[in-house]
Amino acid sequence: MRRKLVIGNWKMYTTAATARELTAAVVAGLGDERRVGVALCPPFPYLAAVGDAIRGSAVLLGAQNCHDERQGAFTGEVSAPMLLDLGCRYVIIGHSERRHKLCEHNDFINRKVKAALEVGLTVILCLGETLEEREAGRVAGVLEEQLNQDLLGVKPDALSRLALAYEPVWAIGTGRNATPQQAENVHSFLRMQISGRYGEETGQALPILYGGSVKPDNAASLLQLPNVDGGLIGGASLVADQFLAIVRAAL
Ligand code: PGA
Repeated sequence: MRRKLVIGNWKMYTTAATARELTAAVVAGLGDERRVGVALCPPFPYLAAVGDAIRGSAVLLGAQNCHDERQGAFTGEVSAPMLLDLGCRYVIIGHSERRHKLCEHNDFINRKVKAALEVGLTVILCLGETLEEREAGRVAGVLEEQLNQDLLGVKPDALSRLALAYEPVWAIGTGRNATPQQAENVHSFLRMQISGRYGEETGQALPILYGGSVKPDNAASLLQLPNVDGGLIGGASLVADQFLAIVRAAL
């Protein structure tokens, strides 16, 4: 049985003060609930403060991105060992906002995935098609290509630290979300792809999260699907009550 995982992606929101408040509210609201894994991914400057605020709780820390080199002359970048040093367990890689707005390509994403796995972080690799690609009937082809390129050279023994997040680009921050049927179809396709590459057991164990306008009122219909193992939550993760309601919907 795969344990559900609900991850808050705060994107470029919060201040030092609101990050602390939001974390405290999530920690208090979650209490001893450990049936669902919960992680918060604040902006880089607040990682340490959020890390302090979750100490001793069931909440884990994640980052929204990392560079592929361990250190070096890369002004403005943050490496995977730095994230580990700050207590991160997770790192989101390949988010569509980075792919589309910051021109990140699959080869860079692939190098980051390998760098993060190598230091022991768990990677949440985001995949998803644009509306244009969906309407052209290219969903399977696009996802297969993303998997091929982003996981190139990733060794089977690292797969226990990989999660996928299916995030249809047209559903992110738009209030539109995939229907349960669309989500389930894609998730089972992704699981089949991983089973084909790494074996049935690995495919069955892989957490595949759904992301894209998950809100308290649609969370149960998406997070209770057989092949949906949790959610990557953007907007609703900035409001503690909404985020906690989504966590409860995953139970
Ligand atoms: P959203 O964002 O929940 O605001 O749509 C999800 C994400 O981008 O991870």
